[in-house]
Amino acid sequence: MKKFIAILAVLALVVACFAACGGKTDKDAANVSGSDATPAEVVENPAAADTLVMGTNAAFPPYEFVAEDGSYAGIDVEIATAIAEKLGMTLEIKDMEFDSLIPAVSGGSIDMAMAGMTVTPERQEEVNFSETYATGVQAIIVKEGSEIASADDLEGKKIGVQAGTTGDIYATDDYGQENVSQYSNGSLAVQALLNDQVDCVIIDNEPAKSFVAANEGLQILDTEYTVEDYAAAFAKGNTELLEQFNAALAELKADGTIDAIIAKYIPAE
Ligand code: ARG
Repeated sequence: MKKFIAILAVLALVVACFAACGGKTDKDAANVSGSDATPAEVVENPAAADTLVMGTNAAFPPYEFVAEDGSYAGIDVEIATAIAEKLGMTLEIKDMEFDSLIPAVSGGSIDMAMAGMTVTPERQEEVNFSETYATGVQAIIVKEGSEIASADDLEGKKIGVQAGTTGDIYATDDYGQENVSQYSNGSLAVQALLNDQVDCVIIDNEPAKSFVAANEGLQILDTEYTVEDYAAAFAKGNTELLEQFNAALAELKADGTIDAIIAKYIPAE
């Protein structure tokens, strides 16, 4: 019995201490942050509305990549910059995993996603797409001398893809998940190909060209897997920004700016 009372006493002390400590911390926090202020005194950041927050996955040259000086560059970055300028906004870029982009758009942590993103019916259920500004083709990269000569030879082969991309979706649908290895970006998938961990990589053709140019011993097969439209993605509720974006895009198409940006990064063959 004595022991029981002793335990109770200790427990009571502990509880009392926690209550006291907790109380003190709360009060201090309140004083520091000034949360005594009435909501009316909370001033919203006036710059926020002037900032266009673009989410991307900057490992997808020539659409988006990190330049040597550490800045973001590429077709999407330049188009978004030109659109922001037309709308009187400042562009802010958030670099993230490709498969986080649609949740980020829907959740409102970014205003739009621009990432060489293909318009698909599945994605259209989650986000609204702008007018398209470029086309992409899914390409197959193999090592030089590979026995894979076309998509018909991919059965049972190990395919590397960037997770959540259309290349991933097609490869999984057509050849089975067990044959598909997902990487968090295209260059890691290409690295796996160079290390013989996969037999090929399915990725959009322009990034494919960049990766092949940057690495010895790779080639792109002369088969077009699919042709796709790229567009910017917006939250379902945010039709106002979508309309502004489309209006600015139409002007930039009409005055030749979009063509010039694309030509800068993709010289005519
Ligand atoms: N076009 C493909 C898709 O929409 C791949 C895009 C990957 N983009 C990137 N920035 N990593 O699924």
